[in-house]
Amino acid sequence: MLLERLQRPVRGVRIVRKKPFPTDPDAIGAQIVPYRPLNNDDIERILAQLSDVQGRIVTSALSPMEQPSFRDAGFTTRESLYLFTHQLQDRPKETKGRHVLRAGRRTDTARVLDIDARSFDSFWALDREALTAARKATPVHRYRVATIDRMVVGYAVSGRSGRSTFLQRLGVDPDVRGEGIGTDLVRDALDWAVREGGASMLVNTQTVNDNAKRLYESLGFVLSNDTLDVLEWARP
Ligand SMILES: CC(C)(COP(=O)(O)OP(=O)(O)OC[C@H]1O[C@@H](n2cnc3c(N)ncnc32)[C@H](O)[C@@H]1OP(=O)(O)O)[C@@H](O)C(=O)NCCC(=O)NCCS
Repeated sequence: MLLERLQRPVRGVRIVRKKPFPTDPDAIGAQIVPYRPLNNDDIERILAQLSDVQGRIVTSALSPMEQPSFRDAGFTTRESLYLFTHQLQDRPKETKGRHVLRAGRRTDTARVLDIDARSFDSFWALDREALTAARKATPVHRYRVATIDRMVVGYAVSGRSGRSTFLQRLGVDPDVRGEGIGTDLVRDALDWAVREGGASMLVNTQTVNDNAKRLYESLGFVLSNDTLDVLEWARP
């Protein structure tokens, strides 16, 4: 009976298992990405279903409201993130540079993933599946790339759910940073959010990411009092 309960699938959550499973207990074995607040029973069932995972189990970035049942189950903070909000007024103007923006295409994926890998440490870097998941995380999304001489040099993924909009992902090739490309991708995302009828745009970033923090603040995002936390759990 107990086993049957623990095996029942949990709805409203995506579980990403690392393949192949790490043998190192400190490596990340799986990630839990909830789309709704999970209760203690949900977490117990998820951990039971991940009982074959050797490494650590981590979560996506969780708001304070989403954390208590994870913490009850023994999850602790792995990393804290800043959360920024933009009210979609006083938006930046288009920056003129060498780049142009266009819709992202399937054939851009390899180049986007390469920029992503050079922009984020391995914990945060996307693979093909995670890029698709970031785009599909909200009912409506926008995927733009910046190009110079037809070469993709930056990308942004934004999404909308109801009147909330999110800048999900942003990266610029390290070789062409400081030319206004990041600014223009964020400006494009904010303009899109307004056209979509959004009320605000949210973005989060690692507390150690000074470049992103400076960029967002200079573009009118305001740092929220709430931080988000990525939690982790290691099998006792
Ligand atoms: C954060 C990031 C996207 C910024 O991209 P970028 O293209 O360098 O951004 P910009 O060029 O628009 O702005 C960077 C700086 O250049 C300045 N700048 C903007 N336009 C410029 C121009 N035409 N000429 C010279 N400098 C310019 C900006 O004022 C900004 O200065 P600041 O850092 O003092 O605020 C980039 O550093 C990156 O990919 N980082 C790794 C991934 C990441 O952190 N993503 C976001 C967090 S989720």
